[in-house]
Amino acid sequence: MSVTGAGAAGGVALRVPGDKSVGHRALIVGSLAPGAVRMEGLPDAADVRSTARALRAVGVELDWPAGSTTASMVGPTTWRGGATIDAGNSGTTARLLVGLLAGLGLEATIDGDASLRRRPMDRVVYPLQAMGAKIEYRDEKERLPVRLAPRATGHLRVLRYRSRIASAQVKSALVLAALAAGVEFEMWEPARSRDHTERLLRHLGVPIDFGPEGEGAHLALPVRARDALRAEALAVPGDPSSAAFLLVAGILAGRRVTVEDVLLNDTRTAYLETLEAFGADVEIEPTGERLGEPVGRVTAGPGAEGLRGVTVGPAGMPALVDEVPVLAILAARAAGVTEIRGASELRLKESDRLAALAAGLRALAVDVDEHPDGLTIYGGPDVAPRGDVAARGDHRIAMAFGTLSLVPGADVRVDDPSCVTVSYPGFWDDLARIEADAARGGA
Ligand code: S3P
Repeated sequence: MSVTGAGAAGGVALRVPGDKSVGHRALIVGSLAPGAVRMEGLPDAADVRSTARALRAVGVELDWPAGSTTASMVGPTTWRGGATIDAGNSGTTARLLVGLLAGLGLEATIDGDASLRRRPMDRVVYPLQAMGAKIEYRDEKERLPVRLAPRATGHLRVLRYRSRIASAQVKSALVLAALAAGVEFEMWEPARSRDHTERLLRHLGVPIDFGPEGEGAHLALPVRARDALRAEALAVPGDPSSAAFLLVAGILAGRRVTVEDVLLNDTRTAYLETLEAFGADVEIEPTGERLGEPVGRVTAGPGAEGLRGVTVGPAGMPALVDEVPVLAILAARAAGVTEIRGASELRLKESDRLAALAAGLRALAVDVDEHPDGLTIYGGPDVAPRGDVAARGDHRIAMAFGTLSLVPGADVRVDDPSCVTVSYPGFWDDLARIEADAARGGA
């Protein structure tokens, strides 16, 4: 992979919505700040809107007009208990809000849509209970809805937690709980998950210590860390997970695609190395830093020798967990076998993504073996994909299969194209731009 200081190569240049993970965190951390916070570059996506709605329900004064990527928050917040929160389809909203509200000691009920009600909540509830939070499952054990009982400020205890799973949602929920409650917190995770919460807090003055340790990562938050939190304008960089779909679409269409102003945090960009292992040309051009995060321009296109199968995971899986769907699609067009392993967490996302991918690929006559923790995909560049695919209401499954329609001669229909609004409402328009560029041909 080349990291350059030169201008982007030819082809089509696009922008993607602001990063979904950072967008959630900008809103949540902003709500704890001691003054007004203006935000730019928020993704106008259903999941981040769910976080905004949840925060308003607990007293946050937030103005984020429909269709806009700019919001302003009046701080400091006067928190309000007794809310019923609908986190919609958003796991990040549900899990981070459970942490935040537990730390604040606010009474609340948190629920979500049918997909979110199937996803495990014990991964955040259990350690929060160990900190002293009073959280109950209303209907089914370990699932939403959960009810948080009101608690006096200062009720949470110090926690030193060795997590079994590498999950940024778990880590962030616990950091937010400790930050809101003003208690000390320390955590180890078995592999590095995305560290946006830590970076944003440090950027805003909070004395949080974090970094890689062995195969995993360690973080430490001191007592009353929130006293140091500053209110500052926040500009969210583009989402590398959204960019991944455009880059793969370009590779499949035989075109170079550049995405401007994307987050280049290495807990998110591991998929770029995988694209290169597949045989694609990848170029990364760092342009600066925002919110303590590196940002830049990324270009990818087909390599000279075509695509070949690769091995993905288990090492480093958290750094490309959301890109497995689109990498599986590329695998279907790569000569030889692609092995994806260590990806059992994908069964707990918006859909069971391993099952959805296996079913969708089979519907397009691609040979695939499904394993408890991954997929073996027998790819080939010869036959154009044709058929109907079920997205199972999952935005990343819909977008991943959507990219396949750019293979020359393909006819791929996704049953629920509108579910992309969860993270990337303009996805089909941007895909059409790449298609138009391919139809024009030439560089
Ligand atoms: C996210 C963390 C990841 C990722 C999800 C967003 C976040 O989940 O899959 O799309 O914003 O914290 P994990 O909790 O498994 O890391």
